[in-house]
Amino acid sequence: KEIRLENISFAYYNKDNLFTHLNLSIKKGEKIAFIGESGCGKSTLVDIIMGLLKVKEGKIYIDNEILNEDNIKSLRSKIGYIPQQIYLFNDSIAKNIAFGDEIDFNLLKEVIKQANLENFIKSLPNGIHTKVGDGGNNLSGGQKQRIAIARALYLKPEILILDEATSALDNESEMKIMDELFRISKDKTMIIIAHRLLGIAKCDKVYKLEHSKLILERQK
Ligand SMILES: Nc1ncnc2c1ncn2[C@@H]1O[C@H](COP(=O)(O)OP(=O)(O)OP(=O)(O)O)[C@@H](O)[C@H]1O
Ligand SMILES: [Mg+2]
Repeated sequence: KEIRLENISFAYYNKDNLFTHLNLSIKKGEKIAFIGESGCGKSTLVDIIMGLLKVKEGKIYIDNEILNEDNIKSLRSKIGYIPQQIYLFNDSIAKNIAFGDEIDFNLLKEVIKQANLENFIKSLPNGIHTKVGDGGNNLSGGQKQRIAIARALYLKPEILILDEATSALDNESEMKIMDELFRISKDKTMIIIAHRLLGIAKCDKVYKLEHSKLILERQK
C-alpha cells in the first residue's frame, strides 16, 4: 500500500549530508515526480528508495514492515527501473529487452509497441534480431532509452521508476511515450525524475529537491 521514508539522513562516503531527516510517503498507484537542479540528489533518492544505498539514519517502511535484507528482493522484484545511464550489451534488440530471460514474443511485441519502437524496428532488415553494438553504439540516444523503457515494461512491474528516461527524445516522442506509460500504469506506482516538465504534467505530486529538502511543489 505504501513506501515510506522516515527521517532519512544520507551522505556519500567522506561527504556532507545529501539528505537530513527526509520524510516521504508514496502510496500505491500514486504518480510522483522529482525535480531539481543537477546534482541535488534525485538519482540518489531513488537509489535509496530501491534499497541500493545504505542510509545513515532513518528507516524505509514497506507498509508497516521495515525494509531489510529479507524483504528487499521482494520489493525489487516489483520495480521496473529505467536508469539515467542505460546499459545495453552487444546482442539483439530482443535479448536486450528480455534481458536474459527466455523470450516471450507476445510480451516482447507488446512492450515494443508501448515504448514506441515499432516503426524503428520495422525499418531494420533484421528487425528485433538486429545487434545493438557495443553498449548500444549502433543506436541513437533516444532509441537506447526506448529499449530501456521496453525492458522495464517487460517485467510487468508494479512500480515504475524513470530517471530522465525520455531526456534524449524530442518533445513529441516524449509526450507519446509518457501518455502511453500513464495509460498502461493506472494501477502502477510511478516515480519519475525529469528536467523537462512536459512529461510529468499528469503526475499526482511534484516534489522539488532543494538544499537537501523535499518540497511539495504541486499536487493534483
Ligand atoms: N557514488 C557517489 N559517490 C560520491 N558522491 C556521489 C556519488 N554519486 C553521486 N554523488 C554526488 O551526490 C550528489 C547527488 O548526485 P545525484 O546523481 O543524486 O544527483 P541528480 O540530482 O540525480 O543529478 P542529475 O540531474 O545531474 O542527474 C552530487 O553532488 C554528486 O556529485
Ligand atoms: Mg541523476
